[in-house]
Amino acid sequence: MNYSFTVTLQKWYINHKRPLPWRDISNPYLIWLSEIILQQTRVSQGLPYYERFVEQFPTIKDLAAASEDEILTLWQGLGYYSRGRNMLKCAKMIVANYDGVFPSEIKEVKKLPGIGDYTASAILSFAFDQAHPVLDGNVYRVLSRYYGIDIPINTPLAFKTFKSLAGEILDKKNPAQHNQAIMEFGALHCTPKKPDCGACVFNETCVAAREGKVQNLPVKLKAKAKRIRHFNYLVVLSNDKTWIKKRKSKDIWQGLFEFPLLETPQALSNAQFITSVDSEFGITNPQVKKVDSIKHLLTHQTIYADFWVVTSSHFNFNGISDTFEVDLQALGTEYAIPVLISKFLESPLMNV
Ligand code: ADE
Repeated sequence: MNYSFTVTLQKWYINHKRPLPWRDISNPYLIWLSEIILQQTRVSQGLPYYERFVEQFPTIKDLAAASEDEILTLWQGLGYYSRGRNMLKCAKMIVANYDGVFPSEIKEVKKLPGIGDYTASAILSFAFDQAHPVLDGNVYRVLSRYYGIDIPINTPLAFKTFKSLAGEILDKKNPAQHNQAIMEFGALHCTPKKPDCGACVFNETCVAAREGKVQNLPVKLKAKAKRIRHFNYLVVLSNDKTWIKKRKSKDIWQGLFEFPLLETPQALSNAQFITSVDSEFGITNPQVKKVDSIKHLLTHQTIYADFWVVTSSHFNFNGISDTFEVDLQALGTEYAIPVLISKFLESPLMNV
């Protein structure tokens, strides 16, 4: 262990930590819940979701008894919906295989759906004070700067190197607090942009600060170009009802509901859209109006969505598979929808 580093770090933590509801508790179910919600999500965004899940499902048995639709409705807006679906699978497995008692062996925990090295280490250190170092984006940043390591962090070599270093400096007598502290230090002080190195407790010992490399670390290899997609939604509005379909394929938003969709290689003109609706749905010459175009950014995709509205009581999708009519107001309450669809529903343009 690097005694001076971890003592300074934990002192800093005691003075600066945010009071968060999943801290200073040892219930592995609640810790697991918080970690799944916080994967790729900011604390401020995840907090209200955590509170709603805990209130609705106080124990893992309550959660395991939920339906996927219930989970996805509560999960709406958080993104990365496979996390929500895996959360349910995981709860069911723990109830079926461990009688609802969260396993405490790292090998067992890593086999559970939605739990990788980071999440397993976080749960076992926070809940059981086991000496597993956590490695998340914050920890990579702190260690790469403190030790001046320029291995690109999104590579297997970086995982090996940083995991081993994080293990060496871990305070094995106090792994829960050490792990919380290093993540909190990365989140609050050693921030990606413009960290206040002048006021840093590691100002004298940090390699990057001494050598003027703070802005250049950590190094990350450039991501692939984003995939561009064109969505055309057919929004039928009639007596406050509309038609929707559940997304089933292994793609974004699996299990969520949306309007009938035509995905095309390019955006469509009015005439092209009308022809496509005929060939796809067998609906001839619909009176449609494009009322909204929304650009929606996901981590690896950019979606250009056009919303085409039809107001006709004669319009229906009877016979089109899995497509059914619902009250408009059930969207987002009874039926979980992607953020893209709720953006459209909130838009004043929709009121044609
Ligand atoms: N992000 C992920 N896990 C966290 C935790 N336990 N506390 C604060 N932020 C986090």
